[in-house]
Amino acid sequence: MTVINSRWSKEPNKLLVKYLADLKTGKVLDLGGSDGTNAIFLARNGFEVMNIDKDNAALNDLKIFANENNLNIHTEGADLNNYIINDTYDDIISFFTFHFLKLSSGDKLIDSIQEHTATDGINIIVGFTDQGEFNINHKKCYFVGDYLVNKYKSWDVLLHDKVIGGTKSGMNQEREILVARRR
Ligand SMILES: C[S@@+](CC[C@H](N)C(=O)[O-])C[C@H]1O[C@@H](n2cnc3c(N)ncnc32)[C@H](O)[C@@H]1O
Repeated sequence: MTVINSRWSKEPNKLLVKYLADLKTGKVLDLGGSDGTNAIFLARNGFEVMNIDKDNAALNDLKIFANENNLNIHTEGADLNNYIINDTYDDIISFFTFHFLKLSSGDKLIDSIQEHTATDGINIIVGFTDQGEFNINHKKCYFVGDYLVNKYKSWDVLLHDKVIGGTKSGMNQEREILVARRR
């Protein structure tokens, strides 16, 4: 039995667990899903998952785990700076990934996420803002002000929050948290 390395998260994201019942049943896209802690949780709860990341070693571990455990998970190695979403998903999630992307790519990706979410589908996005102890590279996609919630003005916002918390690096950094349903 392959053991998933849990490179970034040992447990599924707490928001995902909390809002599981609000997700539209069907197909979920996880952007920056690494070795699939969230994908595995979703697949075990009946969802089909497409897990995208640029870390091919992480995706390979996930692929093996999914095959061994008969989980409905697909993977695709891609750079999200240039990624074109070419399907419609019932729900799209992304945790702690936008700050790795170029500013302009991040903004385009949010537009594309919204366009490719089905009616009544959910987006859950969590990303770092420019507030906190990180040494910010302003060319990267750190959310500024109420960036995320402003992007979702035409959606039903189920949760919006900004929280400072510890990170893997030991530094405290604010994250903007958004759960929204497409009308
Ligand atoms: C902090 S980890 C978060 C992983 C997972 N979402 C979680 O919350 O456990 C960020 C992930 O984004 C991926 N990533 C960073 N830049 C990327 C890019 N340009 N294209 C695709 N994936 C990227 C990394 O490989 C990593 O798996």
